[in-house]
Amino acid sequence: MSSTDAILVTPGQKDSFRQGTVPVIDEIGPGELLLEVVAVGICGTDAEICEGLYGQAPAGHEALVLGHESLCRVVQAGSDATGFKPGDLVVPIVRRPCPERCPACAVGRWDECLTGHYQEHGIKGLDGFLRGRLVLDADAVVSAPAALGEFAVLTEPLTIVEKALERALQIHTAPGHPQTGLVTGAGPVGILAALLLRSRGLDVYVVDQRPADSPKARFVESMGGHYIDDTKTPFEKAGPAGGFDIGLEATGYAPLVFRALSALAQNGVLALTGVTGGHHSLDIDVNLMNSTMVLENQAMVGSVNAARAHYERAVQDLAGFGVQFPGLLEQVITARHPLADFAKALQKGPDDIKTIVTLG
Ligand code: BGC
Repeated sequence: MSSTDAILVTPGQKDSFRQGTVPVIDEIGPGELLLEVVAVGICGTDAEICEGLYGQAPAGHEALVLGHESLCRVVQAGSDATGFKPGDLVVPIVRRPCPERCPACAVGRWDECLTGHYQEHGIKGLDGFLRGRLVLDADAVVSAPAALGEFAVLTEPLTIVEKALERALQIHTAPGHPQTGLVTGAGPVGILAALLLRSRGLDVYVVDQRPADSPKARFVESMGGHYIDDTKTPFEKAGPAGGFDIGLEATGYAPLVFRALSALAQNGVLALTGVTGGHHSLDIDVNLMNSTMVLENQAMVGSVNAARAHYERAVQDLAGFGVQFPGLLEQVITARHPLADFAKALQKGPDDIKTIVTLG
């Protein structure tokens, strides 16, 4: 057994993240893969874990290896790990089924786990990917084409959007629609949501608080979308006259949820992807909200995590974005840091989209 550098955190303890080492098993079993980590994306969940607000160490451990959005390379494939060879790129699946194998987990829908005892790499009960090497079951990863290269690290955040959009489209069945999309927040999830909605042919409006000449605004415009600086024009007034068919909320700022709901069109569906801690009260006219949602057939749906099919779709869609929007994926990854500079990777500037930690 050898060891590998890793970023460790003590869940529940603010600013406890540090660089350390963890053991690596060099002997792999028949259905296993020895992987080297190529890159790990950093997201708001990682920041919350480092704040001590979220996260759970593996049973019997005090520390958790951080990092869940990852891209790895196969070093060695076990005899039964068919379809994998050294050098292949793979994206590990974040959530693993609950030990009880509830009806959802039993059919691979761990994202809809019924017991809540699921585990998530780098988040809940399973070590994550901010480490040099690790061993995983071959059925816990999805293959990524070599041509995607480093961009495959965007797979996991895109799975969040793939699932949220799938849920919205299961509800939005009006003929000839959806035609218009609203994305609140031009962070990584919002930007990936905008690319996905554009790739599906929707007229997309992205809302943020950056100026109209900011890189995020230019990014949205170069994919053929509309950017709205909500500090200048409220998005309720700047969108299409009839409202939005599909909304994807990607800020996790709860007051925006109700504004986005009020901006939906007839039959509109709002999908929520952001998690909010703490408390925030609002004075809302719930009679108006109720009757509008009923009379206009509207829906609001939450969505968390993703199943294997969403990972496979995300890998395909990333490859498609590269063709449909040349040069744009390059602009999604705005900062790269080595493992030793992890603290810098947590600091996000207003124009940053996705920060990644590069390992191999
Ligand atoms: C991750 C999801 C995870 C969720 C809740 C998100 O940041 O991308 O995979 O299910 O946090 O823990």
